[in-house]
Amino acid sequence: MKFSIASPAFFLFSLIIAANAVSVPVLPREGKSKGRGKGGHRYGGEYGSDGVGGARPAPDSEDWTNATAALIELHKNLCEIPSIAPNELAVGDWLATYLRSKSFTVEKQEVARNRNNIFAYLGNKNRTKTLVTSHIDVVPPYINYTYHPNGTITGRGTNDAKGCVAAQIKAVEGLLTKGLIGEGDVAMLFVVAEETDGAGMIKANDLGLTWDSVIFGEPTELRLSLGHKGVLRFSIEAFGKAAHSGYPQFGINANEDLVEALHILSKMKLPGSDLLGNSTLNYGIMGGGTAPNIISPYANASVAIRLAADPLLVRALVNETVKDLPVTLTWFERFYGPQYLDYDVEGFETRAQAYGTDIPNLKGSHKRYLYGPGSILTAHGNAEFVTVTDLVKSVEGYKALIMHTLP
Ligand SMILES: *[C@@H]1O[C@H](CO)[C@@H](O)[C@H](O)[C@H]1NC(C)=O
Ligand SMILES: *[C@@H]1O[C@H](CO)[C@@H](O)[C@H](O)[C@H]1NC(C)=O
Ligand SMILES: *[C@@H]1O[C@H](CO)[C@@H](O)[C@H](O)[C@H]1NC(C)=O
Ligand SMILES: *[C@@H]1O[C@H](CO)[C@@H](O)[C@H](O)[C@H]1NC(C)=O
Ligand SMILES: *[C@@H]1O[C@H](CO)[C@@H](O)[C@H](O)[C@H]1NC(C)=O
Ligand SMILES: *[C@@H]1O[C@H](CO)[C@@H](O)[C@H](O)[C@H]1NC(C)=O
Ligand SMILES: *[C@@H]1O[C@H](CO)[C@@H](O)[C@H](O)[C@H]1NC(C)=O
Repeated sequence: MKFSIASPAFFLFSLIIAANAVSVPVLPREGKSKGRGKGGHRYGGEYGSDGVGGARPAPDSEDWTNATAALIELHKNLCEIPSIAPNELAVGDWLATYLRSKSFTVEKQEVARNRNNIFAYLGNKNRTKTLVTSHIDVVPPYINYTYHPNGTITGRGTNDAKGCVAAQIKAVEGLLTKGLIGEGDVAMLFVVAEETDGAGMIKANDLGLTWDSVIFGEPTELRLSLGHKGVLRFSIEAFGKAAHSGYPQFGINANEDLVEALHILSKMKLPGSDLLGNSTLNYGIMGGGTAPNIISPYANASVAIRLAADPLLVRALVNETVKDLPVTLTWFERFYGPQYLDYDVEGFETRAQAYGTDIPNLKGSHKRYLYGPGSILTAHGNAEFVTVTDLVKSVEGYKALIMHTLP
């Protein structure tokens, strides 16, 4: 069965989504939203001639302003402190000290022992209209921070997501210096555990605060995100019967059963959407058997589906596909559906993402924006990097987003 935005099935799925109070906007195709276009954000000026830092800023170039230097310094400090989850304590402490030195009120919210979210705002007003947020944990392994003369910065977290953290802070500082924001306008929240189980953002719900708009920072290559896929996971097991491999007729091969089921699952046509494309299924881990001369008595695998459609619908289709096969599925309790985000801001290119974020972990009816420097394609790899140009542009992008959210 093929599903599309126009089909009755999609209509039904929209109702399910609507019942969960998630808006399904009328979606444009990927591309540029109308407006000023590239480099057209209004709140620049600090970062060099064109307001975005020039093509190849380097310390000896004209475009290397003091603001750029301060941005790079903040980013470097954050990246040089390893913070592979669950060891985010040191970077959080450093960040809290930094933000206090810039006159923000800073609170540490304990998520678990030695794991703190950092929450900052101006003065005494912890209730603000807008929240900017990203995460301070990174994936393993630690990779040294290195600034290359061509304006590329490599190392763990340079892109995902300490580039966002540094740029968001500099955007808020910049708007404050210009008197464009004040107490009660913007708060900042930097969470732990985004790369693992989302415990940091889930804990943030206990702050007891709500916002009109939340600006999330993840690498989007400076595009404002239209939405991103959801995630659904299950493990699959096959139970066989051990026997001497010379006499396979006396055993049942669990490996064979598992491989056949995975093959069928991977060929399944899963529903998708015009905005997010196809749902995709990956069996990332498999195991089975005891020895080459024994018919395998047991095999299992771990599967993740990147969802571009309703999770319950996809789960039912997968259930249906395996129901007559000699395998057992166990669905993970935690999952979330596709996320449709806000993008009603001029001057940004837009795009949908296939990766997951903390966005569904923060409850509330706030508008949700997703934006940041760097590319997800390098984010978890050995060659993770961000360019100075992107960092500088993203400060201007965050400023424009923040100002858009303030009446
Ligand atoms: C830029 O930094 C230099 C050296 O730190 C300082 O002397 C100068 O006053 C700064 N310029 C501005 C405009 O802040
Ligand atoms: C990373 O930096 C540390 C400290 O500066 C150094 O000891 C180590 O050799 C560096 N590792 C790599 C792979 O460059
Ligand atoms: C910048 O320099 C680094 C290190 O030499 C290199 O890996 C990278 O490809 C260069 N990037 C560009 C855009 O030239
Ligand atoms: C926010 O401020 C209110 C009033 O001062 C206070 O009761 C509350 O505990 C504060 N919450 C946080 C998370 O700072
Ligand atoms: C979705 O899957 C179909 C085949 O099932 C393929 O033709 C199409 O290119 C895929 N779309 C995307 C966006 O990957
Ligand atoms: C498979 O089963 C083994 C043994 O129970 C377990 O250690 C492993 O985590 C399971 N792997 C998957 C992918 O479910
Ligand atoms: C799929 O099957 C499991 C039991 O195997 C059940 O708990 C779940 O509700 C089913 N899901 C759907 C959507 O039918």
